[in-house]
Amino acid sequence: MTVKKAIYPGSFDPVTNGHLDVIQRAAILFDEVIVAVSTNIGKSPMFTTEERIEMLREACRHLPNVTVDHFDGLLVRYAAGRNANVIVKGLRALSDFEFEFEMALMNRRLNEGIETVFMMTNAEYSYLSSSIVKEIVSFGGSVEGLVPKIAEEYLKRKVSSSQYGVKAAGSHNGPSRGRGFE
Ligand code: PNS
Repeated sequence: MTVKKAIYPGSFDPVTNGHLDVIQRAAILFDEVIVAVSTNIGKSPMFTTEERIEMLREACRHLPNVTVDHFDGLLVRYAAGRNANVIVKGLRALSDFEFEFEMALMNRRLNEGIETVFMMTNAEYSYLSSSIVKEIVSFGGSVEGLVPKIAEEYLKRKVSSSQYGVKAAGSHNGPSRGRGFE
């Protein structure tokens, strides 16, 4: 029997409950799910790769068939290297569709053997993104219930110790809105 292995890639800067919802749904459908942290070249992350991995590992601890890893370079190359032939992407609203469609078709062109599967997030999280979470926190708002507890702690620590706090929220070093779950 072949093992159904899926990659769920993203920036996860930081992981939100919307991401976690997709991970949990994917963990039911696939034998193995690899949550793969990467850096989107269009964004400068608030958290280091190590911090993003740590938050995800803690948030996914209750899911035995989920592992967390990171990659650089092309996603399809990474997926092939891990013997995974499915890429899972979360869709929240129509606004995500165009960009995700473009990426899925490009990934198929790069490697026809890898299929992209879209999963709808719970409607409760359809408005939620890492960017909006960072914006709320940098202006001193609460993100309780929007991110896993571990991410809430990391966000609080980051904001109190750095340039991401209220004073610099409008600066170039502060968070910027992106596309997708980001
Ligand atoms: O959470 P994000 O920022 O929407 O994640 C985007 C990510 C990291 C999944 C995407 O940028 C990606 O796949 N990067 C790897 C580079 C790559 O393969 N690019 C070609 C995609 S068509």
